[in-house]
Amino acid sequence: MNLFEIPAEIREKAEKLKKELNRHSYHYYILDDPVVPDQEYDRLFRTLKELEDEYPGLRTPDSPTQRVGASPLKAFRTVKHSTAMLSLDNALNEEEFLDFDSRMRKELEKEKIEYIVEQKYDGLAIELIYEDGVLSLAATRGDGIEGEDVTGNIRTIRSVPLKLMGAGYPGRLVVRGEVVMFKDDFRELNTIQEKEEKKVFSNPRNAAAGSVRQLDPKITAGRKLNMFVYGIGEPLDPKYKVKSVRAIYGKLKEWGLNVNPDMLVSDEIGRIKEYYDRLETRRDKLEYQIDGIVVKVNDLEAQQALGELTHSVRWAVAWKFKPMEAASVVRSIEVQVGRTGALTPVAILDPVSVGGVTVSRVTLHNPDEIERLDVRAGDTIIIHRAGDVIPKVSRVITENRPKNAKPFLFPEKCPVCGTRVVKEEEEIIPRCPNQNCPSQIAETLIHFTERDSMDIEGVGTEWITRLAESGLLRDVADF
Ligand code: IVH
Repeated sequence: MNLFEIPAEIREKAEKLKKELNRHSYHYYILDDPVVPDQEYDRLFRTLKELEDEYPGLRTPDSPTQRVGASPLKAFRTVKHSTAMLSLDNALNEEEFLDFDSRMRKELEKEKIEYIVEQKYDGLAIELIYEDGVLSLAATRGDGIEGEDVTGNIRTIRSVPLKLMGAGYPGRLVVRGEVVMFKDDFRELNTIQEKEEKKVFSNPRNAAAGSVRQLDPKITAGRKLNMFVYGIGEPLDPKYKVKSVRAIYGKLKEWGLNVNPDMLVSDEIGRIKEYYDRLETRRDKLEYQIDGIVVKVNDLEAQQALGELTHSVRWAVAWKFKPMEAASVVRSIEVQVGRTGALTPVAILDPVSVGGVTVSRVTLHNPDEIERLDVRAGDTIIIHRAGDVIPKVSRVITENRPKNAKPFLFPEKCPVCGTRVVKEEEEIIPRCPNQNCPSQIAETLIHFTERDSMDIEGVGTEWITRLAESGLLRDVADF
């Protein structure tokens, strides 16, 4: 049945439902401000789906029902970008950023340059092409010249509109941005992957890239992804009268694309530094990973005058944050006794700053992990923080190992109460079986006072530990 055999009132009803659902998605995924409860969305969605089941001709590519994932592919089709997807030069510290600014001032022969400053997302670059307002192609960056057609997968991302909003958009719009996976969704995905004995991803960026480059869009549909847009691949028609990046973002936003509101337009270097500092200290609190800020010349004419190099543009720079990896030396390996008696080995380190946070101890999880890493007191190790705040050991630099460093021997007795440690055959974590172990008591009481539990103020870890060790505090009643 083609579109013309569908009764006009049914067609109108479907159009109305599509529009309404798209509007709700926009409020939910882009404005973060839903206008209807989830059940109402589901109800509208089901109504549209039923109509489409009855009249398959209604199932247009911009229908919200078409996000769920098409049939699997054998391979991705290669697509050539109409203009190369270039990269950014990095500034690794303030001095290099100031060099960039001097270069801009010199070349543009101006005393001050207006910049637009935004977050640098740590994800996967994607190009979207809209024809007559409908998403017609999504491609990866690839080598910058040619990428892969991942349209079926990108269509499953809720913050990517299948249809642009309003009526003012151009007949052809080429948008570029970054697909990211939120840190919570990344953790959740890995928990599921682990349970199902599937590949565990090492960080949200790899998880996002792995999900986008999936031949089966149904798998991508099950992954929670997001996309932020940060530019266009072909200039807008002069009739739009946009003269700056800021103005482009205004248009993209108007057309329903996900532009991050956290940006700064300024010609004050001091304010750019403040933006950098603020984000670097806040980066752990963001829902997704960023690895720096991007500073772009805001004026489009000036950008054009500056031009580009083979691999990067000359009008922007990525001012990177301090790396999330650092080296330190293991002073000793201690074993902690937890609330349930679990013994956890911990490496005590020479304090080191990892991405702005001082780390002086790092968990080694269990004896198997110590063996796998072959970490010993005296070793130089690489620590990283990724996806979450908890630092991890990524590897040992064995070349730096002191000659006398001995493999760590896991204690046979509880380091706190001296009770013989037990470890069941199938368990990986050794335990102290003594329920009266002062450490277990203290940990239980600490847990009891914590925010997630009773949230008791004024009793800290230090006091509880001391009182438990002296025998004055044995259970919660003793408080
Ligand atoms: S603008 C001509 N803005 O960083 C280059 N890129 O190292 C235009 N990226 O390939 C890129 N956040 O994938 C731009 N706010 C942002 C970005 C951003 C992340 C990525 C992008 C690019 C890479 C360059």
